[in-house]
Amino acid sequence: MTILKTENLKAYYITEIFGIKRTVKAVDGVSIDINNNEIFGIAGESGCGKSTLIKTLLGIVKPPLTVLDGDVNYSIGDKKFNILSLSPRELKNIRWEYISYIPQSSMSVLNPVRRIRDSFKSFINAHKKIEKKEFKNLVEEHLNALGLPIEVLNAYPHQLSGGMRQRVTIALATILKPKVIFADEPSTALDVVVQRGVIQLLKDIQKEQKNTIILVTHDMAIHANICDRIAIMYAGKIIEEAKTEEIFKNPLHPYTKYLIGSLPKIGDKSYRVSAPGSPPPLSNLPPGCSFHPRCPYVTERCRKEIPSLVEARDGHKVACFLVSKEV
Ligand SMILES: Nc1ncnc2c1ncn2[C@@H]1O[C@H](COP(=O)(O)OP(=O)(O)O)[C@@H](O)[C@H]1O
Ligand SMILES: [Mg+2]
Repeated sequence: MTILKTENLKAYYITEIFGIKRTVKAVDGVSIDINNNEIFGIAGESGCGKSTLIKTLLGIVKPPLTVLDGDVNYSIGDKKFNILSLSPRELKNIRWEYISYIPQSSMSVLNPVRRIRDSFKSFINAHKKIEKKEFKNLVEEHLNALGLPIEVLNAYPHQLSGGMRQRVTIALATILKPKVIFADEPSTALDVVVQRGVIQLLKDIQKEQKNTIILVTHDMAIHANICDRIAIMYAGKIIEEAKTEEIFKNPLHPYTKYLIGSLPKIGDKSYRVSAPGSPPPLSNLPPGCSFHPRCPYVTERCRKEIPSLVEARDGHKVACFLVSKEV
């Protein structure tokens, strides 16, 4: 069952400095269907528009970011709405309780001069009127379920390790049992070993709460580990989408092949190729397929026409003239 759907979503950063207009096409015609009870991954190199897509899906759109086309339709139980048409007040009511967000850095959520307990208090009080006893039960039960020590409640954020802080942020973002959770590079700032724990925590929460997690990371190993389906983003567009196993077993887009080829395998000492060159500036895209200047299989058509995302096989979509045989 679909919980979130967009069609041809376009969100550009439009700026004008000294009369010079600049348009950064950060989200450029994205169509996605995200299901209830799944972990949906969004992958791609830095600068391809992942965070902007998340912001738009969350309804956080402020100038210079401008939505030019498309709706962001949610269907959460009997609540159906286009998040882009909600008032700030309506947005506030929905955020955290229905749709929540785990940022890359916990310090944007936790108040550095207040104990963790107070962060939980102000957070919950903003959404619910509850008694002191009920608050205690709710928070302690939730921390327990997540395997976090109750003592963290007495700590100030700076007294916790980076990994523990991020776990606390995740606990905060999930305490009201939101149906949709966005996580934007939730473990990127952490050490590899700590990363694993944070990702496992997300996986456990999803299993228990049966909600939908939209996980953004450039790290394909993390996607392989926890996502049900993956969308690959390149220069503001989704260029491939399929079930995780299918993406890794049978990648179709040359860019996806590069991304997967750059995954280290245990015991493999061979040199791995990454895609030559770097992604194009989103303010000045090449004509045709945006990947064509880096593609080893480029044809004349790729330099002129933009391939659309089409189903190449069951549930596996790709935007590439080589594979889709699109006419
Ligand atoms: N406030 C802004 N004004 C103008 N351009 C921006 C702004 N924020 C991000 N961008 C540009 O949008 C593009 C996509 O950025 P982003 O969504 O952060 O990508 P990612 O998360 O994949 O690294 C980048 O080229 C970035 O420079
Ligand atoms: Mg980002």
